[in-house]
Amino acid sequence: MPPRLVTRVTRTTETRILALLEGANLDSLLSTFTLDRAVSVDLPNFTGGAGEVGELSALSAQGVRCRIIIVGLGSASAAEVRKAGAAAGRRLRGKESVVAIRIALAHAGAFLTSLSLATYAYNELKGQTEGIKQLEKIEIDTSAKWSKLAQTQAIIDGIFLARDLIHTPANVKSPAWMAAESALVAEAGGLKIRVREERELKKEGFGGILAVGESSRARGPRFIELTYAPRGSSKWQHVVLIGKGIVFDTGGISLKRPYDIMIPMKSDMAGVAGIIGTMSTLHVIKPKVRVTALLACAENTISGTAQRPSDVITHFGGTTVEVKDTDAEGRLVLADSLAYAAEVLKPDVVIDMATLTGAATLGLGRQFAALYSNDDVLALELEEAGSASGDRAWRMPLIDDYRDSLKSEIADFSNISSGGLGAGSIMAALFLQNFVGDYRWAHLDIAGAGRSEVDAGENIKGGTGYGVRILCEWLAKQ
Ligand code: BES
Ligand code: MN
Ligand code: ZN
Repeated sequence: MPPRLVTRVTRTTETRILALLEGANLDSLLSTFTLDRAVSVDLPNFTGGAGEVGELSALSAQGVRCRIIIVGLGSASAAEVRKAGAAAGRRLRGKESVVAIRIALAHAGAFLTSLSLATYAYNELKGQTEGIKQLEKIEIDTSAKWSKLAQTQAIIDGIFLARDLIHTPANVKSPAWMAAESALVAEAGGLKIRVREERELKKEGFGGILAVGESSRARGPRFIELTYAPRGSSKWQHVVLIGKGIVFDTGGISLKRPYDIMIPMKSDMAGVAGIIGTMSTLHVIKPKVRVTALLACAENTISGTAQRPSDVITHFGGTTVEVKDTDAEGRLVLADSLAYAAEVLKPDVVIDMATLTGAATLGLGRQFAALYSNDDVLALELEEAGSASGDRAWRMPLIDDYRDSLKSEIADFSNISSGGLGAGSIMAALFLQNFVGDYRWAHLDIAGAGRSEVDAGENIKGGTGYGVRILCEWLAKQ
């Protein structure tokens, strides 16, 4: 459970957080706090730089012995405030259950979000969690009435949900399980839901999702459609969010090697997780856009019904593809979804999000998603939403000259490029663009940003929940 944010401070908590601007006077800050006597101080060389943390122990006016964590904000830019929040959260992680925070910040939401994220833990499957405290409640003391509380809470909840989905092992999260989780979110948030199973996918021609998903007969694919369309929304812009939801990626018959690179592949549904997290917030954020989420869920595995390298498949809408590498499966499920959006939903904007290529991580590392777009304005808006919210994205080029290497001798396209061209993340984006309709389109390759390899800052090792913040920020601005 994510921590609950409450504005009524009872002042009974034993841990308090003070956020301090660089160069600000610590004594005057402490004097505004209800302390009567500082007992001990541990603030070696504390200057208030972003993310610096100091601690002191004190007695409160009520006589409660308390721990005060002081965190530096630097000059309090959004990025510095996030860094500070994460540093404070790291100090609290696993130790505290309730904290009181005194803030009067322009970026209070960013601070609370980063702080909460840094305390996340996935303990669902552990018998022994004794001694590990879960951060349950954050009491906020602000002089001004702060109107963003509910939105901030919804975003924190959405990211925690996304992280829980990613951490859930693949033996639990079949595509059908993903559909059941989506139904819970739909019910809680007043969204419509439609789930297509294999029979309907066959009837309607979703050849990409089927080619991947039929590798697992016991755990067949699901195409999940969630709709946010509040009253009066029929004239609003229509945005479609598309997610890659591979619940486990073995590579298929083009098996991943060495085998241990498969271990993190339960997170190959991080695109879908980020979109489910986003959809869960909409009834609170109330953006003035109609939003349809398309969640393409399948398991990519090996079996007698798995597709073979060299198979030719027919996507939704009729385009044929030669599958030269069954490990380039994400683009196959996304291709159907992009074509379905074009033909059936006729949206204004489509944003897809996918753990699509290892190459995205090689190029940008884990702190940025690779962003592609056919529209300069949309690309700029997303870059800005990314840096404002903390889910950062860097625009990459859709290089025309490379398109030819996706040709196939036998089908309209091949699913991988011929001849060691490199540019793996770009090639995947160019492949997707073949299925994009007459709409503004952006693609976020989150193979890097969707997962953290280290337990540090806002993240624990594992799923980051990337996508909730950038999409919520962008949707709220429409
Ligand atoms: N799910 C992987 C991409 C990935 C790799 C995500 C590492 C996270 C960490 C994707 O399905 C894949 O296997 N991509 C291939 C494409 C290649 C076969 C053209 C890749 O990146 O190697
Ligand atoms: Mn793959
Ligand atoms: Zn994959």
